[in-house]
Amino acid sequence: MAQSKSSDFYPDLTGIITERIILFFVEMNKYANFPLRVGLKYNRKMQKNTPDLQTPDLLLRAWKPEDTQALFTILQEPGILKYYPPTTFDLPKTNKYIDHQLNHWSKYGFGHWAVVLPENGQLIGWNGLEFLSELEEVEIAYLLKKQFQGRGFATQIANAALQFGFEVIGLPSIIGLVHPDNTPSIHVLHKCGFVFSEKIALWGIYLDRYCITKETYHLKHGPIFTDVK
Ligand SMILES: CC(C)(COP(=O)(O)OP(=O)(O)OC[C@H]1O[C@@H](n2cnc3c(N)ncnc32)[C@H](O)[C@@H]1OP(=O)(O)O)[C@@H](O)C(=O)NCCC(=O)NCCS
Repeated sequence: MAQSKSSDFYPDLTGIITERIILFFVEMNKYANFPLRVGLKYNRKMQKNTPDLQTPDLLLRAWKPEDTQALFTILQEPGILKYYPPTTFDLPKTNKYIDHQLNHWSKYGFGHWAVVLPENGQLIGWNGLEFLSELEEVEIAYLLKKQFQGRGFATQIANAALQFGFEVIGLPSIIGLVHPDNTPSIHVLHKCGFVFSEKIALWGIYLDRYCITKETYHLKHGPIFTDVK
């Protein structure tokens, strides 16, 4: 009987180990923050804390519980939530949004920033990225106090969030979900390089889904922020 050589034996062992590793990851995926199909594509350079991003006109910084009152005031502006699924914000719900964003940052390494004026720290809105478990995709978000709309600020901060998502986190693509009548928001998406993909029913309303990939983004843009603190 011919003796089995180590070279005959190891290929089988390698196959078994590989199979076990794959089964382990499939099993772990059920409990992971990201689905396997999305998660393995991420660099997932976790930011322990929300980094500050300085854009040409604005500062994106971490949410603080003390922002609750100022954000609540913004969210009371007539029509500001017109194109969102029906909702209203009271103070506890506003505080819950801030808590949710802080948790989202520590879980995924990205989330929404508080948008402030660098000269005096005034809060003027939100901006950033959120992982949607319903779609297994990352969505861009932006909202500005009315007084600061129409100056190109939303496009500027949306581009900063895209740069962060693609260059720092390593996301392969980012989506935008927008009510079909929300013309300013659709303009922002187009100016950032998003393209329309489909109409979807979500959260009880119909929304247009736009998408941008890392490759398209890099063809279109130079850096918006240069420093991550
Ligand atoms: C969406 C939003 C952030 C856009 O802010 P903004 O500061 O006006 O955005 P920008 O100035 O960067 O760009 C807006 C673009 O839309 C255009 N626009 C604005 N209102 C418009 C209208 N009624 N019809 C056509 N174009 C319009 C502007 O001219 C501008 O395009 P331009 O630069 O080519 O001139 C702001 O409207 C907002 O906070 N809305 C409430 C929250 C919201 O709906 N968020 C998006 C959810 S998907």
